[in-house]
Amino acid sequence: MTWEQVMELNRTAQLRQLMTEYLQQFAMMASRFDGTTDRSAELVTVIDAYSAFITDEANRAAWEQLEQEAGPELARLAEELRRTSARCVSIMEKYRALKLLNGNAARTEYFQNIESCIETEFGSFQISSGSKVLMVGAGSFPMTPLMIARRTDAEVIGIDIDAEAVRLGRKVAELLGSGLRIRLERASVEQLADAGDLTHIIFSSTIAQKYELLDRLHPLTNGRVVAAVRYGDRLKSLFNYPSQQVDARKWKLVDTILRPDHVFDIALYQKA
Ligand SMILES: C[S@@+](CC[C@H](N)C(=O)[O-])C[C@H]1O[C@@H](n2cnc3c(N)ncnc32)[C@H](O)[C@@H]1O
Repeated sequence: MTWEQVMELNRTAQLRQLMTEYLQQFAMMASRFDGTTDRSAELVTVIDAYSAFITDEANRAAWEQLEQEAGPELARLAEELRRTSARCVSIMEKYRALKLLNGNAARTEYFQNIESCIETEFGSFQISSGSKVLMVGAGSFPMTPLMIARRTDAEVIGIDIDAEAVRLGRKVAELLGSGLRIRLERASVEQLADAGDLTHIIFSSTIAQKYELLDRLHPLTNGRVVAAVRYGDRLKSLFNYPSQQVDARKWKLVDTILRPDHVFDIALYQKA
């Protein structure tokens, strides 16, 4: 075995070890969430470290090597890590909302990472004051709806399957977005009365069923709508649900916005 091969082996073994450790930390933090912000700082530290891990160039190469060598048990570890880290991001949004509502707000690297993306989300399909935007997975701290409504004056509807996220999200929107056109609902896409008027749709990256929801939105929406699916492939798939093929009779991929320094990338679709 050459020296380079030994080094390669070390890097992939280290990566697998780190994945196992992150999974243990996320699982522990998800199980300890008790509706208070007592463990907020601890979770923020892990999520910020994990965001750096996911966007680290050196880890990207090691992941590609590991993926080639490893079998189904690596795929299971990756799936668990994706699911558990997504749960922790939802919890972190709850902490952020609770802290804001208790008068104790703070920024973290992860949120800066997400917020800095909003300008580029739709590439050349810009949002304006006449737009109607749907965010699927608006979260407890609906930063994307707030930033869009504030910067563009568009009407924004956010939906979420988590009733507590909707309840907290509404309070945050009241506090930070008073006067803005934001509506948050616990509704399925079929329950949206105005789906036919949507001009833009954004899917959170951490939604497992986002491509199924895109498919279901096809018959409900008009011919000009643009859908932005946040996703993460390869190493980024440890923190995001990856991109998928779409039904070519329904949707076509019109642009991909790759962001090497950010936790997720964006795929833009229009009707076929
Ligand atoms: C944490 S937030 C947003 C995270 C991040 N901004 C992003 O782009 O992934 C993700 C939200 O999606 C919600 N969610 C998960 N599955 C969903 C689904 N099938 N439909 C609607 N919302 C969903 C979760 O409840 C959570 O509040």
